[in-house]
Amino acid sequence: MKTILVTGGLGYIGSHTVVELQNVGFDVVIIDDLSNTSIGVLDNITSITGIKPRYEQIDLKDREAVKHFFKYYAVDGVIHFAASKAVGESVHEPLKYYENNISTLTYVLKEMVVNNVSNFIFSSSCTVYGQADEMPITENAPTKEAESPYGATKKMGEVIISDTTKATDLKAIALRYFNPIGAHPSAKIGELPIGVPQNLIPFVLQTAAGIRKELSVFGDDYPTPDGTAVRDYIHVVDLAKAHIAALNRLLDKKNKANCEYFNIGTGKGSTVLEVVHAFEKTTGKKVNYKIAPRRAGDIVTAYADTTLANTELGWKTEMSLEEGLASSWKWQEGL
Ligand code: UD1
Repeated sequence: MKTILVTGGLGYIGSHTVVELQNVGFDVVIIDDLSNTSIGVLDNITSITGIKPRYEQIDLKDREAVKHFFKYYAVDGVIHFAASKAVGESVHEPLKYYENNISTLTYVLKEMVVNNVSNFIFSSSCTVYGQADEMPITENAPTKEAESPYGATKKMGEVIISDTTKATDLKAIALRYFNPIGAHPSAKIGELPIGVPQNLIPFVLQTAAGIRKELSVFGDDYPTPDGTAVRDYIHVVDLAKAHIAALNRLLDKKNKANCEYFNIGTGKGSTVLEVVHAFEKTTGKKVNYKIAPRRAGDIVTAYADTTLANTELGWKTEMSLEEGLASSWKWQEGL
């Protein structure tokens, strides 16, 4: 049985990935500092899979604690989710993002190298492409200057990892996520709302639930079918399974380069209004909305070419937008 460290394993994508890892027989150790989640997620994971993962409450900025962890636990691979992810906050507190997302990455990589742990999966983002010139976006599309310190940490993270794979035995896969939505079908884990949501689906959920008065649709004059911006919304369970496929590729030594990159999306673009209407149709709940000005820093359109992930990882999405929205709503209703 292989043991996998999941940093940020009590967060939104991390918790779903822990469940999928356990479902296929991996032994999981979680590190989380609880800065953006709650300890109750550990019990909820346990109640889904019947297996309580080992858990260490460690802040990865605590270098001694990271060193100590790797001395104590023998792990076969690391899936690294732990990071701050609020784009707006990152503009006002850049150093928090460079410390939380970059310093910690270097500490984890250093201890992996020192302790001969060679398999690393990184949470990257389609944000590295900025506004890509061509749709769908392939992995060969050039990366662009980041719009925010958060985006910069994803770009820099990829560079740091790639450089490390050139100089050491580290093998890495960076998964470039498009827009994750949805929750586990059990509705026991999902995205925990903290503060006013900045992302579309959490705001839609809270509007439908009556917590927010109305959704602002940011911009209806984009060059898209209905004027609202286009994104590729991927179900978090599908996304979680992509991590298993990537991990197995490294464990089975099927990787073709020491550092590889894969787009993880559905390949289908949806406009903001299409999402709102699909949500209303699927759940029967009304979403009050108004058209508002464009949001600074937003791109017009982003959806993935998933050919590489389909062929090389042997992975593809199984869930629809509607299933993502329905599971998000079931989760919201249970909060
Ligand atoms: C955002 C981040 C991106 C990050 C991703 C993580 C920004 C500018 N970008 O991407 O760096 O990787 O989250 O999930 O924050 N929308 C509304 N009303 C709302 C909220 C959103 O109309 O209240 C629109 C947005 O303008 C956008 C779409 O919905 O067109 C999706 O927005 P969001 O969920 O924030 O994701 P991204 O902007 O794609």
